[in-house]
Amino acid sequence: MARTMGPISEGPLDAAIDDKPPFGPMKRLTAAELRAEQQVTLRSPRRKPGLAAKGLFTLMDVVYGRKRTIDKFRVLELVARVPYQAWEHVAYVAVTHTAAETDFARRVFNKVRINRWEQDNEQWHLLILNEMMSRRQGKDPYGWLRATVIPQLIAFAYYQWSWLTYVIRPAWSYRLNADFEDHAEHEYAQFVEENPELETTPFHSEFTDDFGHYDSVADLFRQIGYDERIHKLQSIASFEEPRFR
Ligand SMILES: [Fe+2]
Ligand SMILES: [Fe+2]
Repeated sequence: MARTMGPISEGPLDAAIDDKPPFGPMKRLTAAELRAEQQVTLRSPRRKPGLAAKGLFTLMDVVYGRKRTIDKFRVLELVARVPYQAWEHVAYVAVTHTAAETDFARRVFNKVRINRWEQDNEQWHLLILNEMMSRRQGKDPYGWLRATVIPQLIAFAYYQWSWLTYVIRPAWSYRLNADFEDHAEHEYAQFVEENPELETTPFHSEFTDDFGHYDSVADLFRQIGYDERIHKLQSIASFEEPRFR
């Protein structure tokens, strides 16, 4: 598959990686399905967040305001990847320790791959939002501290917390992530509802090969919101599971 960017270096894998498509949307929906799923989200109640999630949402509202904006979503996406990174890390270490039991090691490795898929999906969300921000006219509304330093600090703390809770009690880690993803799912659905001009805004991006073509920016955000629901459901399904089985 051709990519818009060529390889930076010239090792044997720099060219070969183009033949390995990255994970894109969690499940690509049609335009009609995207509209229907957005309505499902709008009709469904939000999860009651736990203490950690509530603290995080409050912090985000205090620092970035309550209004739903592309800039605020971009901070959300920057933070969103890190639980999957933490879980992937733990699972990869576990593959080493379970390598003698072939079937078990394979199941743990499947967890690694799922975490990777979710992480890559969140990465496309992040890159697409960054691209939108870079094309925007005018000044960055947040400034360096709120656009760069604070998101990195939140992401760092969130990684440590996700890693620690995943090691001590995975259900805590999954629950926090389910709350976070539920919040994201509803915020995106409402953002589309609040901004009808997005229905007629075309979606042009460097990342269409990776994340898909959409009729409008509204549909792009509907797809992202649907991805967030899949992340949430995956975490909810994992509440009762042991870390690996
Ligand atoms: Fe996301
Ligand atoms: Fe997410």
